[in-house]
Amino acid sequence: MKKITKAILPVAGFGTRFLPATKVQPKEMLSIFDTPAIEFIVEEAVEAGIEEIILITGRGKRAIEDHFDRNVELENLLKSREKFEELAQIQRISRMANFSYVRQPEPLGDGHAILCAKNLIAPDESVLVLFGDDIVDNEKGKNSVQQLMEIYEKTQNPVILLQKIDQKDSEKYGIVKISRDFQQSGDILDVVEKPKPNEAPSNLAIVGKYIITPEILKNLAKLEADQSGEIRLSAAFRQYLQNGGQLMGKVLEGKRFDIGDKLGFLEATLHFALKKEGDKAQQIIEKFARGK
Ligand code: UTP
Repeated sequence: MKKITKAILPVAGFGTRFLPATKVQPKEMLSIFDTPAIEFIVEEAVEAGIEEIILITGRGKRAIEDHFDRNVELENLLKSREKFEELAQIQRISRMANFSYVRQPEPLGDGHAILCAKNLIAPDESVLVLFGDDIVDNEKGKNSVQQLMEIYEKTQNPVILLQKIDQKDSEKYGIVKISRDFQQSGDILDVVEKPKPNEAPSNLAIVGKYIITPEILKNLAKLEADQSGEIRLSAAFRQYLQNGGQLMGKVLEGKRFDIGDKLGFLEATLHFALKKEGDKAQQIIEKFARGK
């Protein structure tokens, strides 16, 4: 079996849920406590053995490229001031993986963004796909990419990360229909976009982390734009299932934050502030909770 070494990160979306912050700034560069959101996502992939990070960018996303590039002037300044800890920290970022960038000329959908990387993927190669909105922290065990990899290594099938949600919130998510013997992982039978709670086939929602196989890419390449003019990854999964393909789901272990949403972003910021600063952050949060 060929090891998965590449990850495609589509980050060309406009981030309309986070305006006005995202009018000129990429939402992926918004800082969760002290680290840009995109770094958390890259970090998980690298920890799971990914070597090549392919970012699908668009207009206004240059800051992401600069973040993962070296900044020699800053390095020299930190060296001359003997700030070696900070130096090591910023040097590490550019050495995490090999980064490549492909521009998506127009935001024609998440699936279209993935297709922009097609020429960088071998015809028999499976790849990881990570969207910019989902951060998972599993403090005690395997990270979310490792969780996906584990299922892929066992089955060789495409895998979608899932999260249990309150069924009344189903209209915010893609929801999956699962096989009867589905436990914490298993077969996905269908993918339904934003169903009404009484029509949702389960309470398992799609999180933006996937492993896609060459068959999924082939399906994606054949798709026509939907009613909103977009090519969507979820439509490629549906097509694949209709053609008899086997699609796996894995219910994530850990905490998931939807950082594309303002309050989800706040939650993630508080979580990582508490994790990194412990009592000092706790005191500030408690002060707010008491209304002072
Ligand atoms: P979303 O559907 O969340 O869109 O895209 P968005 O623009 O990022 O955010 P909102 O909903 O308007 O606030 C899912 C992922 O696919 C990428 C996004 O950057 C995000 O990581 N994407 C989406 C593209 O790269 N290109 C597109 O044309 C659409």
